[in-house]
Amino acid sequence: MRLGRGGRYSLDAFRHEALGEVTSTNTECLARVRQGDPGNLWVTGDRQTAGRGRRGRAWTSEPGNLYASLLLIDPAPAELLGSLPLAVSLAVHGAIRSFLPPAAEPLEIKWPNDVLIGRKKTCGILLESEGLPDLSRAVVIGIGINIRHRPDDAPYGVTSLEEQGCNISAHELFSHLYREMAEILDLWDEGRAVAEITRRWRQVACGIGQPIRVNLPDRSIDGRFAGIDDRGLLLLDTGHGTQAIAAGDVFYL
Ligand code: BTN
Repeated sequence: MRLGRGGRYSLDAFRHEALGEVTSTNTECLARVRQGDPGNLWVTGDRQTAGRGRRGRAWTSEPGNLYASLLLIDPAPAELLGSLPLAVSLAVHGAIRSFLPPAAEPLEIKWPNDVLIGRKKTCGILLESEGLPDLSRAVVIGIGINIRHRPDDAPYGVTSLEEQGCNISAHELFSHLYREMAEILDLWDEGRAVAEITRRWRQVACGIGQPIRVNLPDRSIDGRFAGIDDRGLLLLDTGHGTQAIAAGDVFYL
């Protein structure tokens, strides 16, 4: 895919601020937008002292891994934002793919946006959003990729790129992520290209057709992972029909 110059998500449309120790690169982006930053800003940190994951969990953030957040303003109309997590996971998948040795275990995506190698999590993505006084909406895409370290207390399998035979610095990986993200946002077309995003996502999805458990805030449902619909919702075949699920944690059974 080629990116033209000067478009909303062309390569030269983004700025990058590289920081040392931060609380959280997501927090830094939110602080920038409150100070009037116009968006399309990448913030990276060498280390986070208060990295956060989904559902209020902490994200272990030792030096050597990649901690990056991208601030966007009004990236799409609200009703088209749902496919953004899938698009972002494709960008991360693309950035990691070229560095993995040929014999590495499969690089796949667990719905909606965990990037796995050999079914072990190597990247987490946290999207946060905030309404601004001028009624626009800031969206922060936070990405953590395990390069040299992985947590030992995670409630699911985890791995690092180093463990998978991949020798790369956070700096080098970020330069690929920067390009892949610009390309995928351009393709995503403010949410209008959801069909192409879901098509690509299905090609690298982990476990379609297999039994899974989906943890919702108030209960768990077991069933067969029937794929995703054309909006990007998870399709769960429970044996009594197929449910479309917008948010939840997936576990392979
Ligand atoms: C998850 O729980 O899977 C999401 C983890 C997201 C972690 C990244 S690291 C960079 C950015 N800053 C944060 O505080 N969190 C995200």
